[in-house]
Amino acid sequence: MSSLDDFVQAKLTALEGRHLRRTVVTSARRDGAIVARNGRQLISFSCNDYLGLSTHPALAEAARQATETYGVGAGASRLVTGNHPLYDELEARLARLKGTAAACVFGSGYLANTGIVPALMGSSDLVVIDELAHACLFAGARLSGATVVTFPHNDVARLRGLLADRRAGHARAMILTDGVFSMDGDLAPLVELGRLAGEYDTWLMADDAHGIGVVGNGRGSTFAGETPAEVPLQMGTLSKAIGCYGGYLCASAPVIAFIKNRARTLVYSTGLPPAVVAAAIAALDLIAGNPAYTALPLRKAKMFTARAGLQEAVSPIVPVIVGEPENALAGARMLEAEGFLAVPIRPPTVPAGTARLRLAFTARHEDADIERLADLVRTRILKGRP
Ligand SMILES: Cc1ncc(COP(=O)(O)O)c(C=O)c1O
Repeated sequence: MSSLDDFVQAKLTALEGRHLRRTVVTSARRDGAIVARNGRQLISFSCNDYLGLSTHPALAEAARQATETYGVGAGASRLVTGNHPLYDELEARLARLKGTAAACVFGSGYLANTGIVPALMGSSDLVVIDELAHACLFAGARLSGATVVTFPHNDVARLRGLLADRRAGHARAMILTDGVFSMDGDLAPLVELGRLAGEYDTWLMADDAHGIGVVGNGRGSTFAGETPAEVPLQMGTLSKAIGCYGGYLCASAPVIAFIKNRARTLVYSTGLPPAVVAAAIAALDLIAGNPAYTALPLRKAKMFTARAGLQEAVSPIVPVIVGEPENALAGARMLEAEGFLAVPIRPPTVPAGTARLRLAFTARHEDADIERLADLVRTRILKGRP
Protein backbone atom coordinates (compact mmCIF):
# COMPACT_ATOMS: atom_id res chain seq x y z
CA MET A 1 0.00 0.00 0.00
CA SER A 2 1.13 3.57 -0.60
CA SER A 3 1.81 5.94 2.30
CA LEU A 4 -1.41 7.72 1.34
CA ASP A 5 -3.48 4.54 1.67
CA ASP A 6 -1.62 3.62 4.89
CA PHE A 7 -2.40 7.05 6.32
CA VAL A 8 -6.13 6.95 5.62
CA GLN A 9 -6.45 3.27 6.60
CA ALA A 10 -5.02 4.05 10.04
CA LYS A 11 -7.47 6.94 10.41
CA LEU A 12 -10.39 4.73 9.38
CA THR A 13 -9.38 2.01 11.82
CA ALA A 14 -9.23 4.57 14.63
CA LEU A 15 -12.72 5.84 13.73
CA GLU A 16 -14.02 2.27 13.65
CA GLY A 17 -12.63 1.63 17.13
CA ARG A 18 -14.55 4.63 18.50
CA HIS A 19 -17.82 3.66 16.73
CA LEU A 20 -17.47 6.81 14.63
CA ARG A 21 -16.85 5.39 11.14
CA ARG A 22 -19.55 6.44 8.70
CA THR A 23 -20.69 4.81 5.49
CA VAL A 24 -22.61 6.19 2.56
CA VAL A 25 -25.61 3.90 2.06
CA THR A 26 -27.50 3.80 -1.22
CA SER A 27 -30.98 5.06 -0.39
CA ALA A 28 -33.83 5.20 -2.89
CA ARG A 29 -36.43 7.63 -1.60
CA ARG A 30 -39.96 6.96 -2.78
CA ASP A 31 -43.14 8.97 -2.63
CA GLY A 32 -44.17 9.76 0.94
CA ALA A 33 -41.71 8.87 3.68
CA ILE A 34 -40.57 5.50 2.30
CA VAL A 35 -36.92 4.82 1.59
CA ALA A 36 -35.40 1.62 0.17
CA ARG A 37 -32.01 0.70 1.75
CA ASN A 38 -30.13 -2.57 1.86
CA GLY A 39 -33.02 -4.33 0.14
CA ARG A 40 -35.60 -3.15 2.68
CA GLN A 41 -38.38 -0.57 2.60
CA LEU A 42 -38.23 1.64 5.69
CA ILE A 43 -40.33 4.54 6.94
CA SER A 44 -37.78 7.31 7.08
CA PHE A 45 -37.51 9.86 9.88
CA SER A 46 -34.14 11.01 8.54
CA CYS A 47 -35.07 13.23 5.64
CA ASN A 48 -35.29 17.03 5.53
CA ASP A 49 -37.90 17.01 2.76
CA TYR A 50 -40.34 18.30 5.39
CA LEU A 51 -43.20 18.99 3.00
CA GLY A 52 -42.60 16.07 0.65
CA LEU A 53 -42.09 18.56 -2.19
CA SER A 54 -39.06 16.81 -3.72
CA THR A 55 -41.44 14.25 -5.24
CA HIS A 56 -44.34 16.64 -5.96
CA PRO A 57 -45.60 16.42 -9.56
CA ALA A 58 -45.73 20.23 -9.91
CA LEU A 59 -42.00 20.48 -9.16
CA ALA A 60 -41.12 17.60 -11.49
CA GLU A 61 -43.14 19.22 -14.30
CA ALA A 62 -41.52 22.64 -13.75
CA ALA A 63 -38.08 20.98 -13.84
CA ARG A 64 -38.93 19.09 -17.04
CA GLN A 65 -40.13 22.22 -18.84
CA ALA A 66 -37.10 24.26 -17.73
CA THR A 67 -34.74 21.56 -18.99
CA GLU A 68 -36.46 21.54 -22.36
CA THR A 69 -36.32 25.32 -22.60
CA TYR A 70 -32.89 26.14 -21.14
CA GLY A 71 -30.94 22.86 -21.15
CA VAL A 72 -29.56 20.74 -18.34
CA GLY A 73 -26.62 22.83 -17.09
CA ALA A 74 -26.23 26.60 -16.58
CA GLY A 75 -23.03 26.58 -18.62
CA ALA A 76 -21.13 29.24 -16.66
CA SER A 77 -21.01 31.29 -13.48
CA ARG A 78 -24.02 33.54 -12.93
CA LEU A 79 -21.73 36.54 -13.53
CA VAL A 80 -20.84 35.28 -17.01
CA THR A 81 -23.71 33.58 -18.89
CA GLY A 82 -25.12 31.20 -16.26
CA ASN A 83 -27.79 33.63 -15.04
CA HIS A 84 -30.74 32.08 -16.89
CA PRO A 85 -34.08 33.96 -16.76
CA LEU A 86 -35.53 31.82 -13.94
CA TYR A 87 -33.15 33.31 -11.36
CA ASP A 88 -34.91 36.72 -11.38
CA GLU A 89 -38.22 35.13 -10.57
CA LEU A 90 -36.86 32.91 -7.81
CA GLU A 91 -35.00 35.78 -6.16
CA ALA A 92 -38.06 38.05 -6.31
CA ARG A 93 -40.18 35.35 -4.67
CA LEU A 94 -37.65 34.65 -1.92
CA ALA A 95 -37.36 38.36 -1.14
CA ARG A 96 -41.16 38.65 -0.98
CA LEU A 97 -41.45 35.65 1.36
CA LYS A 98 -38.77 37.01 3.69
CA GLY A 99 -39.87 40.66 3.49
CA THR A 100 -36.57 41.99 2.13
CA ALA A 101 -35.76 44.25 -0.80
CA ALA A 102 -33.60 41.69 -2.61
CA ALA A 103 -32.21 38.15 -2.63
CA CYS A 104 -29.28 36.24 -4.05
CA VAL A 105 -29.40 32.52 -4.92
CA PHE A 106 -26.22 30.46 -4.44
CA GLY A 107 -25.24 26.95 -5.56
CA SER A 108 -26.02 25.51 -2.10
CA GLY A 109 -26.48 26.53 1.53
CA TYR A 110 -22.90 25.55 2.26
CA LEU A 111 -21.69 27.75 -0.59
CA ALA A 112 -23.87 30.61 0.65
CA ASN A 113 -22.37 30.58 4.14
CA THR A 114 -18.81 30.18 2.93
CA GLY A 115 -19.36 33.04 0.48
CA ILE A 116 -21.35 35.57 2.50
CA VAL A 117 -19.29 35.73 5.71
CA PRO A 118 -15.87 36.18 4.03
CA ALA A 119 -17.37 38.81 1.69
CA LEU A 120 -18.47 40.92 4.66
CA MET A 121 -15.83 40.17 7.33
CA GLY A 122 -12.04 40.49 7.28
CA SER A 123 -9.02 40.30 9.55
CA SER A 124 -9.87 43.39 11.62
CA ASP A 125 -13.40 42.13 12.35
CA LEU A 126 -15.14 40.01 14.98
CA VAL A 127 -17.47 37.06 14.31
CA VAL A 128 -19.42 35.70 17.27
CA ILE A 129 -21.11 32.39 16.63
CA ASP A 130 -23.46 30.12 18.59
CA GLU A 131 -21.53 27.02 19.68
CA LEU A 132 -24.15 24.74 18.06
CA ALA A 133 -24.36 26.60 14.74
CA HIS A 134 -24.06 24.54 11.57
CA ALA A 135 -20.60 23.46 10.38
CA CYS A 136 -20.80 25.64 7.26
CA LEU A 137 -21.36 28.81 9.32
CA PHE A 138 -18.15 27.93 11.20
CA ALA A 139 -16.44 27.28 7.86
CA GLY A 140 -17.51 30.71 6.55
CA ALA A 141 -16.41 32.40 9.78
CA ARG A 142 -12.95 30.77 9.67
CA LEU A 143 -12.50 31.49 5.95
CA SER A 144 -13.15 35.18 6.58
CA GLY A 145 -9.94 35.59 8.62
CA ALA A 146 -11.88 37.49 11.30
CA THR A 147 -11.45 36.80 15.02
CA VAL A 148 -13.99 34.03 15.70
CA VAL A 149 -15.47 33.62 19.18
CA THR A 150 -18.22 31.15 20.12
CA PHE A 151 -20.94 31.92 22.65
CA PRO A 152 -22.85 29.34 24.73
CA HIS A 153 -25.90 27.99 22.93
CA ASN A 154 -28.76 30.54 22.79
CA ASP A 155 -27.28 32.42 25.77
CA VAL A 156 -28.17 36.07 25.08
CA ALA A 157 -26.76 37.30 28.42
CA ARG A 158 -23.33 35.72 27.76
CA LEU A 159 -23.38 37.10 24.23
CA ARG A 160 -24.12 40.56 25.59
CA GLY A 161 -21.12 40.26 27.95
CA LEU A 162 -18.93 39.16 25.09
CA LEU A 163 -19.95 42.08 22.88
CA ALA A 164 -19.53 44.52 25.78
CA ASP A 165 -15.96 43.25 26.26
CA ARG A 166 -14.84 42.85 22.69
CA ARG A 167 -16.95 44.78 20.20
CA ALA A 168 -15.04 48.06 20.55
CA GLY A 169 -11.77 46.36 19.59
CA HIS A 170 -12.94 45.53 16.06
CA ALA A 171 -13.97 47.54 13.03
CA ARG A 172 -17.06 45.45 12.21
CA ALA A 173 -18.81 42.57 13.94
CA MET A 174 -21.26 39.87 13.00
CA ILE A 175 -23.44 37.41 14.97
CA LEU A 176 -23.99 34.02 13.34
CA THR A 177 -26.64 31.53 14.41
CA ASP A 178 -28.97 28.90 13.05
CA GLY A 179 -32.63 30.05 13.15
CA VAL A 180 -33.76 26.45 13.77
CA PHE A 181 -30.85 24.35 15.07
CA SER A 182 -30.26 21.49 12.70
CA MET A 183 -29.41 18.79 15.25
CA ASP A 184 -31.49 19.99 18.21
CA GLY A 185 -34.59 21.44 16.57
CA ASP A 186 -34.78 24.39 18.98
CA LEU A 187 -35.15 28.00 17.81
CA ALA A 188 -32.68 30.85 18.26
CA PRO A 189 -34.03 33.81 20.29
CA LEU A 190 -33.91 35.95 17.15
CA VAL A 191 -35.97 38.86 18.51
CA GLU A 192 -33.52 39.31 21.42
CA LEU A 193 -30.49 38.70 19.21
CA GLY A 194 -31.77 41.32 16.74
CA ARG A 195 -32.12 43.89 19.53
CA LEU A 196 -28.68 43.12 20.95
CA ALA A 197 -27.11 43.32 17.50
CA GLY A 198 -28.67 46.78 17.08
CA GLU A 199 -27.27 47.97 20.42
CA TYR A 200 -23.72 46.94 19.49
CA ASP A 201 -23.79 47.86 15.79
CA THR A 202 -23.30 44.21 14.95
CA TRP A 203 -24.76 42.44 11.90
CA LEU A 204 -27.01 39.46 12.61
CA MET A 205 -27.14 36.56 10.16
CA ALA A 206 -29.56 33.69 10.80
CA ASP A 207 -29.30 30.44 8.87
CA ASP A 208 -32.90 29.40 8.22
CA ALA A 209 -32.12 26.09 6.48
CA HIS A 210 -34.63 24.25 8.69
CA GLY A 211 -37.14 27.08 9.13
CA ILE A 212 -38.28 28.12 5.66
CA GLY A 213 -41.48 26.35 4.69
CA VAL A 214 -42.17 24.93 8.16
CA VAL A 215 -42.13 27.61 10.87
CA GLY A 216 -43.51 31.17 10.96
CA ASN A 217 -46.35 30.28 8.54
CA GLY A 218 -43.79 29.02 6.06
CA ARG A 219 -41.81 32.29 6.18
CA GLY A 220 -39.16 30.88 8.50
CA SER A 221 -37.63 31.51 11.90
CA THR A 222 -37.49 35.32 11.61
CA PHE A 223 -41.30 35.17 11.67
CA ALA A 224 -41.73 32.46 14.31
CA GLY A 225 -42.41 34.86 17.21
CA GLU A 226 -45.28 37.25 17.82
CA THR A 227 -43.41 40.02 16.03
CA PRO A 228 -40.83 39.54 13.27
CA ALA A 229 -37.22 39.64 14.39
CA GLU A 230 -34.76 42.26 13.11
CA VAL A 231 -32.49 40.02 10.96
CA PRO A 232 -30.74 41.97 8.17
CA LEU A 233 -29.09 38.83 6.75
CA GLN A 234 -31.59 35.99 6.28
CA MET A 235 -29.73 33.05 4.80
CA GLY A 236 -31.17 29.62 3.99
CA THR A 237 -31.28 26.66 1.68
CA LEU A 238 -33.61 25.34 -0.99
CA SER A 239 -32.57 21.75 -0.22
CA LYS A 240 -34.88 20.95 2.69
CA ALA A 241 -38.57 21.98 2.88
CA ILE A 242 -38.28 23.52 -0.59
CA GLY A 243 -37.41 20.03 -1.86
CA CYS A 244 -34.76 21.17 -4.38
CA TYR A 245 -31.17 22.39 -4.14
CA GLY A 246 -29.40 25.73 -3.76
CA GLY A 247 -28.86 28.37 -1.09
CA TYR A 248 -29.97 31.98 -0.71
CA LEU A 249 -29.46 35.24 1.11
CA CYS A 250 -32.33 37.71 1.55
CA ALA A 251 -31.18 41.22 2.51
CA SER A 252 -31.25 44.88 1.47
CA ALA A 253 -30.58 45.85 -2.17
CA PRO A 254 -27.06 47.22 -1.49
CA VAL A 255 -26.06 44.12 0.49
CA ILE A 256 -27.24 41.83 -2.29
CA ALA A 257 -25.50 43.92 -4.97
CA PHE A 258 -22.26 43.73 -2.95
CA ILE A 259 -22.58 39.98 -2.36
CA LYS A 260 -23.06 39.45 -6.11
CA ASN A 261 -19.77 41.27 -6.62
CA ARG A 262 -17.73 39.79 -3.82
CA ALA A 263 -18.94 36.36 -2.64
CA ARG A 264 -16.31 34.08 -4.16
CA THR A 265 -18.52 30.97 -3.98
CA LEU A 266 -21.02 32.76 -6.21
CA VAL A 267 -18.61 34.50 -8.56
CA TYR A 268 -16.33 31.51 -9.19
CA SER A 269 -18.90 28.69 -9.32
CA THR A 270 -21.31 27.63 -12.07
CA GLY A 271 -25.00 28.64 -11.79
CA LEU A 272 -27.60 26.11 -10.70
CA PRO A 273 -29.23 23.87 -13.32
CA PRO A 274 -32.36 25.62 -14.69
CA ALA A 275 -34.52 22.64 -13.64
CA VAL A 276 -33.64 23.15 -9.98
CA VAL A 277 -34.43 26.87 -10.07
CA ALA A 278 -37.77 26.24 -11.82
CA ALA A 279 -38.70 23.56 -9.29
CA ALA A 280 -37.87 25.90 -6.39
CA ILE A 281 -40.21 28.53 -7.87
CA ALA A 282 -42.97 25.91 -8.06
CA ALA A 283 -42.28 24.93 -4.43
CA LEU A 284 -42.55 28.54 -3.23
CA ASP A 285 -45.89 28.80 -5.08
CA LEU A 286 -47.20 25.75 -3.24
CA ILE A 287 -45.97 27.05 0.12
CA ALA A 288 -47.50 30.51 -0.38
CA GLY A 289 -50.85 28.98 -1.36
CA ASN A 290 -51.05 26.38 1.47
CA PRO A 291 -50.18 27.83 4.89
CA ALA A 292 -52.09 25.01 6.63
CA TYR A 293 -49.92 22.42 4.89
CA THR A 294 -46.73 24.12 6.10
CA ALA A 295 -47.94 23.65 9.70
CA LEU A 296 -48.19 19.84 9.36
CA PRO A 297 -44.54 18.83 10.05
CA LEU A 298 -44.50 20.72 13.37
CA ARG A 299 -47.93 19.35 14.31
CA LYS A 300 -46.66 15.81 13.69
CA ALA A 301 -43.48 16.44 15.66
CA LYS A 302 -45.61 17.66 18.60
CA MET A 303 -47.78 14.57 18.35
CA PHE A 304 -44.59 12.50 18.64
CA THR A 305 -43.08 14.38 21.59
CA ALA A 306 -46.37 14.22 23.56
CA ARG A 307 -46.62 10.45 23.11
CA ALA A 308 -42.91 9.73 23.65
CA GLY A 309 -42.84 11.84 26.82
CA LEU A 310 -40.31 14.34 25.47
CA GLN A 311 -40.23 18.13 25.73
CA GLU A 312 -42.72 19.61 23.24
CA ALA A 313 -41.26 20.08 19.75
CA VAL A 314 -40.87 23.65 18.44
CA SER A 315 -39.80 22.61 14.94
CA PRO A 316 -40.07 19.42 12.86
CA ILE A 317 -36.71 18.23 14.29
CA VAL A 318 -36.71 16.17 17.48
CA PRO A 319 -33.45 14.87 18.99
CA VAL A 320 -33.51 11.68 21.03
CA ILE A 321 -30.21 12.07 22.86
CA VAL A 322 -28.65 8.78 23.98
CA GLY A 323 -25.09 9.78 24.93
CA GLU A 324 -22.44 7.51 23.49
CA PRO A 325 -22.15 6.63 19.79
CA GLU A 326 -22.76 2.92 20.40
CA ASN A 327 -26.10 3.72 22.08
CA ALA A 328 -27.16 5.68 19.00
CA LEU A 329 -26.10 2.81 16.74
CA ALA A 330 -28.01 0.29 18.89
CA GLY A 331 -31.14 2.49 18.93
CA ALA A 332 -31.03 2.89 15.16
CA ARG A 333 -30.61 -0.90 14.70
CA MET A 334 -33.59 -1.61 16.94
CA LEU A 335 -35.77 0.88 15.05
CA GLU A 336 -34.61 -0.50 11.70
CA ALA A 337 -35.67 -4.00 12.78
CA GLU A 338 -39.11 -2.47 13.42
CA GLY A 339 -39.24 -0.90 9.94
CA PHE A 340 -38.07 2.67 10.74
CA LEU A 341 -35.03 4.59 9.51
CA ALA A 342 -33.50 6.96 12.09
CA VAL A 343 -29.89 7.57 11.12
CA PRO A 344 -27.66 7.89 14.23
CA ILE A 345 -25.90 11.24 14.57
CA ARG A 346 -22.51 11.08 16.28
CA PRO A 347 -19.58 13.41 16.99
CA PRO A 348 -18.15 15.49 15.43
CA THR A 349 -21.56 16.45 13.99
CA VAL A 350 -22.78 16.82 17.60
CA PRO A 351 -20.74 17.39 20.79
CA ALA A 352 -19.14 14.35 22.49
CA GLY A 353 -21.52 12.61 24.87
CA THR A 354 -24.63 13.76 22.96
CA ALA A 355 -24.94 11.16 20.20
CA ARG A 356 -28.53 10.94 19.15
CA LEU A 357 -31.25 9.78 16.87
CA ARG A 358 -32.29 12.94 15.07
CA LEU A 359 -35.89 12.53 14.00
CA ALA A 360 -37.31 14.76 11.27
CA PHE A 361 -41.10 14.87 10.88
CA THR A 362 -42.72 15.59 7.55
CA ALA A 363 -46.17 16.37 6.25
CA ARG A 364 -46.15 12.95 4.61
CA HIS A 365 -45.77 10.83 7.75
CA GLU A 366 -48.82 8.76 8.74
CA ASP A 367 -50.09 9.41 12.27
CA ALA A 368 -50.20 5.65 13.03
CA ASP A 369 -46.49 5.31 12.15
CA ILE A 370 -45.62 8.27 14.39
CA GLU A 371 -47.53 6.68 17.27
CA ARG A 372 -45.73 3.34 16.84
CA LEU A 373 -42.35 5.10 16.64
CA ALA A 374 -43.12 7.12 19.78
CA ASP A 375 -44.04 3.97 21.69
CA LEU A 376 -40.78 2.28 20.65
CA VAL A 377 -38.71 5.32 21.61
CA ARG A 378 -40.46 5.64 24.98
CA THR A 379 -40.36 1.98 25.97
CA ARG A 380 -37.10 0.80 24.40
CA ILE A 381 -34.80 3.82 24.14
CA LEU A 382 -35.81 6.26 26.87
CA LYS A 383 -36.93 3.54 29.31
CA GLY A 384 -36.09 4.26 32.91
CA ARG A 385 -35.37 7.95 32.29
CA PRO A 386 -37.02 10.45 34.61
C1 LIG B 1 -28.34 24.76 9.28
C2 LIG B 1 -27.83 24.35 7.94
N1 LIG B 1 -27.21 25.27 7.19
C3 LIG B 1 -26.72 25.00 5.97
C4 LIG B 1 -26.81 23.72 5.46
C5 LIG B 1 -26.22 23.46 4.12
O1 LIG B 1 -27.20 23.59 3.14
P1 LIG B 1 -27.03 22.81 1.76
O2 LIG B 1 -27.42 21.39 2.03
O3 LIG B 1 -27.96 23.52 0.83
O4 LIG B 1 -25.60 22.93 1.36
C6 LIG B 1 -27.46 22.72 6.21
C7 LIG B 1 -27.64 21.35 5.76
O5 LIG B 1 -27.14 20.71 5.01
C8 LIG B 1 -27.97 23.04 7.48
O6 LIG B 1 -28.55 22.11 8.24
